[in-house]
Amino acid sequence: MNERVEIFEVGPRDGLQNENREIPVAEKIALVDCLGRAGFSRIEVASFVSPKWVPQMAGSAEVLAGITRVPGVRYAALTPNMRGYDDARLAGADEIAVFASASEGFSKANVNATIAECIERFKPILRAARHIDLPVRGYISCVTDCPFDGPTAPEKVAELADTLFAQGCYEISLGDTIGQATPDSIVKMLMAVRDVVPVGRLAGHFHDTAGRAIANIDASLSLGVRVFDAAVGGLGGCPYAPGASGNVATEAVAEHLQRLGYETGLDMAVLHEAAAMARAMREGA
Ligand code: HMG
Ligand code: MG
Repeated sequence: MNERVEIFEVGPRDGLQNENREIPVAEKIALVDCLGRAGFSRIEVASFVSPKWVPQMAGSAEVLAGITRVPGVRYAALTPNMRGYDDARLAGADEIAVFASASEGFSKANVNATIAECIERFKPILRAARHIDLPVRGYISCVTDCPFDGPTAPEKVAELADTLFAQGCYEISLGDTIGQATPDSIVKMLMAVRDVVPVGRLAGHFHDTAGRAIANIDASLSLGVRVFDAAVGGLGGCPYAPGASGNVATEAVAEHLQRLGYETGLDMAVLHEAAAMARAMREGA
């Protein structure tokens, strides 16, 4: 049996949060339901953030209520604070994610808080989640480059990863938010993070702005990372990161991993069906 690499599908969240068009909840549900049949273990479908900040995610509770849950699939949601945590629980998210930045500039722009303030905000979320055994993922943005502060020091990423992991995040997703990382900068960053968090608890989250996402995945694979976030149809970006374009496309990553001899467990035919839906949603803009 070939070695397994997991793709964590983030299109319905990281993808759709950046679309200009107001996408009807029914379209989001149809996309998630198609992805549910593709063989993913985890799909990020919702974000309980302020609708003033990200209006595209306003229907998140309706999305979670309307999907047809596939047994064995965990449907995930972003939660920036306790209000988001409570809403995500009420809506039935199977796991949640807290998100912070390794750079102060993006932290301020994205959540109007310093990195230290974010860590304080996460403490009650992680405490509450631990009581009910709800898995919490931790995102770190701008792991190599920040649109406001320039290059990010690998030690800053390692320090934040260490903190989030120690607080109880079961996996740390390392985000090249603006797609400016290179294999070299990814390797330097991962070498530092691997010293404090086991590599089996790390994920790579690459945006393909500069066309280097696949090369950055290869660099991460060579250092032992076996989980990658991707968005079907290459949807996405981040509304608070100027210049951030789409996440690396799930179908491109799946095909690449297949060529390298890894097992993803994904049904390529269903994945292409979902990619066509995602592209049509984007073209509807
Ligand atoms: P704020 O303005 O500093 O705080 O926002 P606030 O407490 O004054 O809240 C503002 C308003 O939002 C208030 O409403 C709150 O009640 C409400 P008002 O009184 O004005 O009517 N509010 C909420 N509403 C719904 N759900 C909530 C919530 N919390 C407060 N949970 C805040 C601070 C964190 C809320 C805001 O900055 C925010 O929501 N930011 C989210 C930004 C975001 O979602 N960015 C994209 C996701 S991160 C990303 O994409 C990166 C990632 O993909 C990895 C990578 O690529 O790097 C993960
Ligand atoms: Mg992202």
